Amino acid sequence: MTPWIRVCAASELLPGEMKVAWDGDTPILVFNYDGTLYALEDHCTHEDYELSSGKFDARGGTIECIYHGSRFDVRDGRALNPPAYAPVPVFPVKVEDGAIFTRDDRGD
Ligand code: FES
Repeated sequence: MTPWIRVCAASELLPGEMKVAWDGDTPILVFNYDGTLYALEDHCTHEDYELSSGKFDARGGTIECIYHGSRFDVRDGRALNPPAYAPVPVFPVKVEDGAIFTRDDRGD
């Protein structure tokens, strides 16, 4: 099983904030959406662009790619409007000993 990687202390990712962590070559974008944590690949499925440059709408729970404007649901990665159609991969996230952890589990 792929080991967990530490993102940050739980106190460093408040509701409405997001943070990028790397698991090997995989950039993972972790969101605090209204007190619940979610993790998506930091990669738009339309073209090769990082979602973390975009705006996290902490009320609607979406992240908008600033390149062409597709929005994704941070809870399940689904694309909400074109030009992206494919969902962004979702990764597990947990809090342990006061820190946030995630991992790219696709190789498990
Ligand atoms: S690269 Fe994200 S919408 Fe085009």
